[in-house]
Amino acid sequence: MVERIKVVLDEREIPRQWYNIVADLPKPMPPPIRPDGSPVRPEDLAPVFPMNIIEQEVSTQRWIDIPEPVLEKLLLWRPTPLYRARALEQALTTPAHIYYKHEGVSPAGSHKPNTAVAQAYYNKVFGIRRLTTETGAGQWGSALAFACRLFGLQCRVYMVRISFDQKPFRKMMMQTWGAECLPSPNPGTKTGRAILEKDPNTPGSLGIAISEAIEDCVTSENTRYSLGSVLNHVCLHQTIIGLEAKKQMEMLGAYPDIVIGCAGGGSNFAGISFPFVCDKIHGRDVRVIAAEPAAAPRMSMAPYVYDSGDVAMMTPLLPMYSLGHTFVPPPIHAGGLRYHGMAPLVSHLRRLDLIEAVALPQLECYEAAVMWARTEGFIPAPETSHAIAAAVREARRAAEEGRERVILLNWSGHGLMDLTGYDAYLSGRLQNYVMTEEDMRRSLEAVAQLPKPPPLG
Ligand SMILES: Cc1ncc(COP(=O)(O)O)c(C=O)c1O
Repeated sequence: MVERIKVVLDEREIPRQWYNIVADLPKPMPPPIRPDGSPVRPEDLAPVFPMNIIEQEVSTQRWIDIPEPVLEKLLLWRPTPLYRARALEQALTTPAHIYYKHEGVSPAGSHKPNTAVAQAYYNKVFGIRRLTTETGAGQWGSALAFACRLFGLQCRVYMVRISFDQKPFRKMMMQTWGAECLPSPNPGTKTGRAILEKDPNTPGSLGIAISEAIEDCVTSENTRYSLGSVLNHVCLHQTIIGLEAKKQMEMLGAYPDIVIGCAGGGSNFAGISFPFVCDKIHGRDVRVIAAEPAAAPRMSMAPYVYDSGDVAMMTPLLPMYSLGHTFVPPPIHAGGLRYHGMAPLVSHLRRLDLIEAVALPQLECYEAAVMWARTEGFIPAPETSHAIAAAVREARRAAEEGRERVILLNWSGHGLMDLTGYDAYLSGRLQNYVMTEEDMRRSLEAVAQLPKPPPLG
């Protein structure tokens, strides 16, 4: 009998509620604040988000029902399969068991539609007609373009210039679903014009694109903004990943010793890990690792401060590990990880020592990604390759120690639209970008001016 390599849940077993980790935090998270230092009020967010989403953003309720129309759309590709990466284990000659949750099976090819569908739905029922957003690698932009199509909303996406140039197919996907996709910075916004004047050749950054999408939203009618990561409600929507994975691991009689996700703004990491962090808070022994790029090592190196989520400081100040909102990360191929900050919830867990962080250089990630493709077959997104590289490190450590570790990683998306990075790697043109002490010093100078959240009580 062939050993089982994947577990597929029946559609009827899809989780019907999201898990909100705020209800289980051992110490409360500092609130987002306004520039004058006072806590943000729900009505402050109303020009940017519909009230039904704001309610979720501030909710402390442990379980939140997934509305039926959202479930119906999620069922197009969920539940997603959980695999055992046996061929990779063999190639690594490790006693570790490596499991992965395959989020690359969604129509847009990543975990991003899990929240895109929910956000499009909430905006639709609130009476909104048009959404604006930013995108790094194009995964989020294509996910929102797809979700807006499902619910009949218009959609405009500001795509970080470097990815816009490197990944034209993502733009075509967005257009195929009926969305508009513009390069960022863009001369059509005040923020974009100011940045282009200073540096016409800037590669752009997520922080700049967020400013432009928010500016477009607040200056347009019947429009709201949609964020693909960072905020509490986005992390909440992604918990369906970890909740399914937990059921699937249970069906195999397994429980992870180590849970790994790559971390850009923090949402897929939150999705796979929060249900397991909940167990950890309640006494279970599990290591949870966020895999960051060495080019933007926020939880590995940066300070915990109150910082804005965007360059033009249009968002409230969020308590998070940050390299400073003016930091423009080097042009690594994992565009979705080129962000200066980290989700406040993920940052808070790091501060509470409930999770760990590791920073990985680009070449090691591509090496792991190619090894993955040549063993497991699926070609991972460059972002996902960070989770894979972290898992490979842990599997090698297990081999050295001769210990049978169970590793679960979130396979956040496929890389079929990201082949230019593979081409650069395979032809030996790819280089590492690691933050030097000088880069770090400049970044620290910028964040030194920012307010500090209160110490943990
Ligand atoms: C495939 C994939 N994985 C991970 C990420 C990182 O985002 P987050 O940290 O919000 O999951 C992205 C972002 O675009 C992505 O496209």
